[in-house]
Amino acid sequence: MLCGMDTVTNPYRLAEHRRASSYGTRPPPRRTYVSTTPQDFAPGERLLARDGTPLVLRLIRASDVQALQRGFDRLTPEEVRMRFLHPLNMLPEPFARELCELDPARAVAWVLADPDAAPRVPEIHAVARAYVDPVLDQAEFAIVVEGRYARQGFGTLLMHRVIDSARKLGATELWGDVLLDNQPMLDLCERLGFTRNFMLHDPGVMRVTLAL
Ligand SMILES: CC(C)(COP(=O)(O)OP(=O)(O)OC[C@H]1O[C@@H](n2cnc3c(N)ncnc32)[C@H](O)[C@@H]1OP(=O)(O)O)[C@@H](O)C(=O)NCCC(=O)NCCS
Repeated sequence: MLCGMDTVTNPYRLAEHRRASSYGTRPPPRRTYVSTTPQDFAPGERLLARDGTPLVLRLIRASDVQALQRGFDRLTPEEVRMRFLHPLNMLPEPFARELCELDPARAVAWVLADPDAAPRVPEIHAVARAYVDPVLDQAEFAIVVEGRYARQGFGTLLMHRVIDSARKLGATELWGDVLLDNQPMLDLCERLGFTRNFMLHDPGVMRVTLAL
């Protein structure tokens, strides 16, 4: 989720394509936030997928790093492109850590995950996040739902959570960049009341915006 001006003004900007490409060539950024927070123990809201699989909707945890990496590996190249706006082969550990260790005053990420008590290692199946620009009081969102759980209303549910959270964090506007060929996400956003604007400097991207 990417745009020059905002990258400069918002240190929490998703700008993931740039960060991701810097890993491997530069040392990882310093860890800023403690690895255990109260949300690490919150069980979350229980849900059932269409096929009966039990899931939970909860906040991301610092301990989710490896599950997030495994979840990334289950995405198709097309889902990755839609989510990150460009191809990405892997989610490096420092980048995944950065996506899990959030400043709760400025960022939030909701995940759809296996319950903690699941017989197998709990996996993450969807993530929706928002980062608030403390200067502009605008929040930028991004979302991805694993194909197996798509078209079941989870994307909409996660977006509602992100909208509520961004509002609680003081944002007055929520926005995201969506590829022009990502009709499902454009439709989803339209249903949620987002307005669309073309990006003059990036004709392949549509910016969707919601007043909070
Ligand atoms: C876009 C995405 C988040 C939707 O998640 P989801 O869980 O399938 O969303 P929902 O089940 O809540 O669907 C809500 C509505 O979105 C639209 N939609 C979702 N997937 C669609 C698809 N494959 N084709 C057409 N419309 C679709 C529909 O209007 C749908 O309502 P309907 O099922 O009643 O027709 C998910 O497909 C995804 O992760 N895509 C890849 C990553 C991405 O595009 N991220 C957005 C960039 S920030």
